[in-house]
Amino acid sequence: MQTPDSVGSASAARGGVDPTGPAAISGAGKSTVVFRSSQEATAATGSPFSKFPSPRLIRFASGLIVCANCDAQALLPHHNRSPRSFGLWVNCQSPDSGLSDPCAGLESGDLAQTRGWRQISGVRRLYKAWPPLAILWGKYNVVRSYWRQMLNHPVSSLRFLTINPETTNFTYDISNREDLISFLATELEIDTSQVRAMVAEIDSDDELRAELTAALRQRPDRSSVPLFGRRIGWYCVVRLCQPRLVVETGVHDGLGSSLLLAALRRNADEGHQGRLIAIDILSGSGWLVPKRLRTEQFSLVIHPSLDAIADISDPIDLFIHDSDHSESYEAAEYAAVNRVLSPRAILISDNAHVTSALRDLARNLGWHYAFWKESPADHFYGGAGIGIAVVGRQA
Ligand SMILES: C[S@@+](CC[C@H](N)C(=O)[O-])C[C@H]1O[C@@H](n2cnc3c(N)ncnc32)[C@H](O)[C@@H]1O
Repeated sequence: MQTPDSVGSASAARGGVDPTGPAAISGAGKSTVVFRSSQEATAATGSPFSKFPSPRLIRFASGLIVCANCDAQALLPHHNRSPRSFGLWVNCQSPDSGLSDPCAGLESGDLAQTRGWRQISGVRRLYKAWPPLAILWGKYNVVRSYWRQMLNHPVSSLRFLTINPETTNFTYDISNREDLISFLATELEIDTSQVRAMVAEIDSDDELRAELTAALRQRPDRSSVPLFGRRIGWYCVVRLCQPRLVVETGVHDGLGSSLLLAALRRNADEGHQGRLIAIDILSGSGWLVPKRLRTEQFSLVIHPSLDAIADISDPIDLFIHDSDHSESYEAAEYAAVNRVLSPRAILISDNAHVTSALRDLARNLGWHYAFWKESPADHFYGGAGIGIAVVGRQA
């Protein structure tokens, strides 16, 4: 087995890793394991590195994994010039770690067994002690990432910075609903009136809105008004296609899951049974899903999505990718589900405005593919998109 120090250089020798950072860390008397990408770190640790798909964000947000027991460190390559004061800590001696010899001879793959990581950064401790600091820190991050869009929308940006407590996974209404309705009608080969009826159903679901509002009010870092954005498209697809098995990767609070479950509940009331498997890597995800909808129709799996998908054996009728938005991870999810897609399955990419993973897959397999982009109302954010592929329907 390699020693920790030799792993850094061995990784570098395999290619793609700048050894400068790890060497600096080793020089400080610590052992270092280098991951070549956020995907590798995510796969190896089950940590949420995948939340930071861009190198800039990785560098800014985190990148250092430290064993609380023996100080072995894992470092993301983009982070290596300035390891920051906060990172993810693992404990090789945690009962779940699966490591027989505490961190000695660690390779990145060894960390895959380590389940006992915890976040103990100084900043994050402060977060917990004083939520307004978390919001301020989050706003600072948002401004760093979106300042160009913010300058173009000064009024909505000012509103966002002053009265909207959200710092991630922004929620908003969309101003191009009619476009969405036409898009779905075309893609599902139905009349626009059928889609419009489903949108009206969401609008009149006061029970769901009240449940979500009550839960959101408990969170100072969330807007208390549930706004579904492009997720209303997901709802319409579930209502109109009546899938038996829906899989959503990336749950976050559970706003999308709630809407999907509301649609499945209505389908069941009409005699069409269906269920949702919702997968997220972070424990605590899905907290927003109302109790009423947490029935046998709902399975929440806390696990890296690729592992969780590997455990699914029933045919998937609707697959929604909304987890790690790096192109390679998204493509890996499609490759993993392909084995269990039903003959007329629908795949939705919630990231199709950024990557071409679903479009490329559809092109390679001769499936029909189309893209629609939302326009957020009263928000600086430029909006995300829905990429939709229909298995078995000719391109
Ligand atoms: C954009 S959010 C999901 C939003 C959600 N679908 C909604 O409707 O609000 C992305 C989520 O993906 C999760 N995630 C990131 N990498 C993941 C992975 N490898 N496996 C599973 N979930 C992952 C994150 O923890 C985060 O909660």
